[in-house]
Amino acid sequence: MALSVLMLSLALSRAPFLSLAQSATSMSDLEWTLTNSNYSISVPGNVPSQAHLDLYDSQVIGDPYYGLNDFNLRWVAETNWTYTTSLSSLNLSSSASTWLVFDGLDTFSTISVCNQLVASTNNQFRQYYFDVTQALSNCKSPDVRINFGSAPNIANAIANTSLNEPWKGTQLSYEFPNRWLIRKEQSDFGWDWGPAFAPAGVWKPAYIVQLSRNQLYVRNTLLDIYRHGQLNNLPPDQTQSWVVNASLDVLGSIPQNAGLRIDIKDVNNKTVTSSAASNVTISGGAITGNILVVGNAVQLWWPNGLGPQNLYYATVTVLGSSNNTIASSTKRTAFRTIVLNMEPISQRQLAQGIKNGNNWHFEINGHEFFAKGSNFIPPDAFWPRVTETRIQQLFDSVVRGGQNMLRVWASGAYQPDFIYDIADEKGILLWSEFEFSDSLYPVAKSFLDNVREEAIYNVRRVNHHPSLALWAGGNELENLELYLANLSDPGNYSRWQQEYETLFLDVFLPAVYENSRSISYIPSSTTNGYLTLNHSAAHPMIERYNNLTPGYIYGDTDHYDYDSSVAFNLSSYPVGRFANEFGFHSMPSLQSWEDAVAPEDLHFNSTTIQLRNHHYPSGSLNTTNFPNTTKGMGEMTVAVELYYPTPNKADPLANFSSWCLATQIFQADFYRSQITYYRRGSGMPERQLGSLYWQLEDIWQAPTWAGIEYSGRWKVLHYVAKDIYSRVIVAPYWNYTTGDLSVYVTSDLWETVNGTVDLTWYDWSGKVLANVSNTSNSGGSSTNSPAESGSVSVPFSVGALNTTKVMQTNTNTLSKTGVDLTNALLRMNLTAMGHLPNSNNDTPSTFAHEFFYHPILSLADAKLTDPGLTLKSNNDSASPAFTVEATTGVAAWTWLDFPSGVLGNFEDNGFWLVPGQAKTVAFEVKNDTTDGRWVEDVTVSSLWDFTTP
Ligand SMILES: *[C@@H]1O[C@H](CO)[C@@H](O)[C@H](O)[C@H]1NC(C)=O
Ligand SMILES: *[C@@H]1O[C@H](CO)[C@@H](O)[C@H](O)[C@H]1NC(C)=O
Ligand SMILES: *[C@@H]1O[C@H](CO)[C@@H](O)[C@H](O)[C@H]1NC(C)=O
Ligand SMILES: *[C@@H]1O[C@H](CO)[C@@H](O)[C@H](O)[C@H]1NC(C)=O
Ligand SMILES: *[C@@H]1O[C@H](CO)[C@@H](O)[C@H](O)[C@H]1NC(C)=O
Repeated sequence: MALSVLMLSLALSRAPFLSLAQSATSMSDLEWTLTNSNYSISVPGNVPSQAHLDLYDSQVIGDPYYGLNDFNLRWVAETNWTYTTSLSSLNLSSSASTWLVFDGLDTFSTISVCNQLVASTNNQFRQYYFDVTQALSNCKSPDVRINFGSAPNIANAIANTSLNEPWKGTQLSYEFPNRWLIRKEQSDFGWDWGPAFAPAGVWKPAYIVQLSRNQLYVRNTLLDIYRHGQLNNLPPDQTQSWVVNASLDVLGSIPQNAGLRIDIKDVNNKTVTSSAASNVTISGGAITGNILVVGNAVQLWWPNGLGPQNLYYATVTVLGSSNNTIASSTKRTAFRTIVLNMEPISQRQLAQGIKNGNNWHFEINGHEFFAKGSNFIPPDAFWPRVTETRIQQLFDSVVRGGQNMLRVWASGAYQPDFIYDIADEKGILLWSEFEFSDSLYPVAKSFLDNVREEAIYNVRRVNHHPSLALWAGGNELENLELYLANLSDPGNYSRWQQEYETLFLDVFLPAVYENSRSISYIPSSTTNGYLTLNHSAAHPMIERYNNLTPGYIYGDTDHYDYDSSVAFNLSSYPVGRFANEFGFHSMPSLQSWEDAVAPEDLHFNSTTIQLRNHHYPSGSLNTTNFPNTTKGMGEMTVAVELYYPTPNKADPLANFSSWCLATQIFQADFYRSQITYYRRGSGMPERQLGSLYWQLEDIWQAPTWAGIEYSGRWKVLHYVAKDIYSRVIVAPYWNYTTGDLSVYVTSDLWETVNGTVDLTWYDWSGKVLANVSNTSNSGGSSTNSPAESGSVSVPFSVGALNTTKVMQTNTNTLSKTGVDLTNALLRMNLTAMGHLPNSNNDTPSTFAHEFFYHPILSLADAKLTDPGLTLKSNNDSASPAFTVEATTGVAAWTWLDFPSGVLGNFEDNGFWLVPGQAKTVAFEVKNDTTDGRWVEDVTVSSLWDFTTP
């Protein structure tokens, strides 16, 4: 469902913590016209906006997300678009100087004022500001014209002038070519999960700033809060005071005797400190200074699940010689340290059983923690329609899903401040990246100068957000380097490595280290880390690349395997310190497809659905990507056929819907298997401390790796991730070749937790199987209930960020003792008591988790029984809840489905039920357009229903 363009003006324009600017007029308040070059199209325009959105608003084009408009609207990307406005409503003569300030121009703009050329721009990610005082003098009817050249055409023109660029053969193209030559959102040119619109426009807020003499306008504010003595990438001394370093980038000239004051208030406006800054320097249009704040004056900020999100306001004021305020900027911020620790494994860690090599984990306020999360891609192909409400809803789902970290994938856009603000409030750490991905990039001086400005602006802009967790140079770049070295181009490797280091170590590392001491930097999202780090050296970071000692463990991992036959083979998963990407694609729901394709196209192999699948991408502008999409569609099909009863329903639409669901079940099943493996790694020699799956959410309606669809609807994956990201989990680890089966309890709490796991074998009719022997291996005593000898209760105790084995058996042995594996299930039911991190509460919390294991690989071979599912609603539209019960057999992958028209989620879904076990799940409504009637159309099904008529 595409959001109405009417919501446009709400997006991005809210700026609650913007710097105080006495006389800045938002360009959103002006009337704009959008025209093409020959004026055959002329429609009202908006700021911020993009041509596609304004054309859609005026019905010149249809919904860009509908059907195959991804292909049909390429002419919009290939056209030059001009936005014009009149300034006659402003009193321009009153000011000494007038400036245009653009927080973002997408991308190739030529700006003129009163028919005089002001400037041309070529970087979507920079802030641009122009003194137009001269151009405005002697102008009767002042106006602004912004011409946007076609980005795809300009990228091609640049490619044609850079002959003999040998990188061309190794670049990953999706649809429009040559994306790496220009500084525009790389996924605008297509990606394997998204469309290629290459939009153009004033995509972020813009202002007309009028200054009187001696006035300043703050265009960007840096706040860097760190422990005294802290250095990037290294764990600081948590007993030190805080340094609050502030630096304002201003328009206007700063008096040489200007002073700086920094006030810190809590969220109730109670002053924490108000001090004149020391060490005030003025240089390059910025004034900088710092204060010290003693540690116990403030409360720490913690990520979701690890403590409260304490926030503060910092006001930075520039003072004139008589203490008069000349400029001021207020930011909401917080006190925390977040470090990516990549230091060598210590003697103490070796003694704990951790394998040698290097660390690769995050520490918040000096504490190791398990990073649970996913990868965040651009939430829309058109940023100006990304509203605060949408991100609030999406990030609510992140928090509900038990996640504490998102990796903001490189090659979308740097996130607007309002997204970091929401993450600050909800405790979601945002691992952030410079926008470079899966390519070699140019290193010509003009390119380096351009991206250096981009990096410095964005590092300074977002550094005050406590949710900012890291800066990475870009996506999957070290892998590409190693690929070139090993396979593709060994002869030129030293050149590629040198160019890579020029950009990612000589440009971006200083952009971070010279503006922040609080944030760690890595050149590439997936990396083996550094060999050495020395802040006083000319090149502080020397990369490890493939200088690996056999048997040692370094770095984070990126894992994709589309051969679904090995999906549950645990030895196919990487053993590393942190999993930053892994996944498999699935179909969105029928309801999402209905938002985007015509009724006649609602079948698995329809042309429209196939061509909206961009895995694998066409790699070009051809609109008949059948060979590649068939591979991706086929991977989903094969996986479903391998592991589940194949949907085979008489009604074509119901069959399509079941197929969509079946692909989602495989996806969720596969991710769950990996996440349990990575979480158990916290107590294994690899000391794994992170799992970020690919990908959180969708950019549009298509088959992708997402767990949340474009409309905000949760796929099976998001429910399953919520379940398996619970604090204390029980999970099976099965080697289906040898039959060895072990069950572990894993906890990411910071204190020991004690509890019990009940292990019970059932058949598919729900009868408890007597005489199945479970060998427990907990060190504790286990009790066999005499009534249910197939059931055993195992007590456990598991330490902080650790794992413990509670059962060990062998399924081949079970089979030999007469257990029919096709008619057997192990239900693992955990209850535990323990303390949440930083809960100022002595009462322990209760934890519960359940997992059903089946001792055959494919449920297509299982003796499924009709579970006789029943569904009851509580008929309470204010707090809706639904009770599901299996009456005649075990329900596998029980799925509650709700109709279009309501946005929300069940508190649990995709679960299993044994007969007699009624389960009530609440539904959290985020938005309802049906007046409560949606409740009547909630349905329930399970795997059994795939093959019923
Ligand atoms: C489109 O814009 C580009 C760059 O601004 C310019 O070179 C080109 O001539 C323009 N084309 C038309 C048809 O106006
Ligand atoms: C704090 O002060 C700001 C600005 O003066 C005001 O908008 C806000 O409402 C105040 N907050 C509280 C909790 O009093
Ligand atoms: C100010 O600078 C001096 C010398 O450069 C340094 O010793 C001091 O720590 C600085 N003050 C703060 C608050 O950083
Ligand atoms: C400026 O204000 C500070 C703090 O209020 C005060 O200590 C100082 O004397 C003032 N300076 C002048 C020149 O008024
Ligand atoms: C889609 O088409 C392929 C190739 O003809 C076929 O093997 C597959 O079964 C079809 N998928 C569905 C769900 O009908």
